[in-house]
Amino acid sequence: MSLTIDILTVLPELLESPFNHSIIKRAKEKGLLEIRVHHLRQWAVNEYGQVDDYQYGGGAGMVMMPEPLAAAIEALSKDRPFDEIIYVTPDGERLNQRIANGLSLKGSILIICGHYKGIDQRIRETYVTKEISIGDYVLSGGELAAAVLVDSIGRLIPGVLNDETSALFDSFQDGLLAPPVYTRPASWRGMDVPGILLSGDPRKIEDWRHEESVRRTEERRPDLLGEE
Ligand code: 6GU
Repeated sequence: MSLTIDILTVLPELLESPFNHSIIKRAKEKGLLEIRVHHLRQWAVNEYGQVDDYQYGGGAGMVMMPEPLAAAIEALSKDRPFDEIIYVTPDGERLNQRIANGLSLKGSILIICGHYKGIDQRIRETYVTKEISIGDYVLSGGELAAAVLVDSIGRLIPGVLNDETSALFDSFQDGLLAPPVYTRPASWRGMDVPGILLSGDPRKIEDWRHEESVRRTEERRPDLLGEE
């Protein structure tokens, strides 16, 4: 199983580094993930590279025009039909682990990064199959949100993580926050690692971690225990 992610942006430079490190880099090297960043200006409406225009009805801020986006989406769709065309936007569905899990099983995804005041509504209605926000705050553009989305999806593609890095024990993967973790030294500034972790009893350790996860979740994110 492998996933190809195409990204449409007016700021490809912003997306140069995020996918060239750590787990996402390894996913690409293993041939499980391919990421292609496309500059929307390739499909600009004129020789000046125009891709945005004033908004109807007035008001500050430009809107990304439908023609370049439609031309780009149609050109890229010819290479491969997309399973999902995602627009990253603050008014989309808030990203969570369930959404990331679902997208990690797809074969081909297109992500559209908006800029300025966003993209023309008609593109959303004509092509976009999912609209995703990464949280209730505003970013200057969709690129960093796209990087977050790709990172959250890429690490979940089957075969990307090994036993060491397994997603099974991540926060949220089982609807709970992750338990506290410790490394050497066993005693640091008078603070000792919980004895159970040194006991060598895997059953007890597993039970302790689960209890700590539940406790942390009750304390910090009770909303997670009530939902789904
Ligand atoms: Cl997807 N885009 C922008 N511009 N801001 C955001 C966001 C997306 N998600 C949260 N804030």
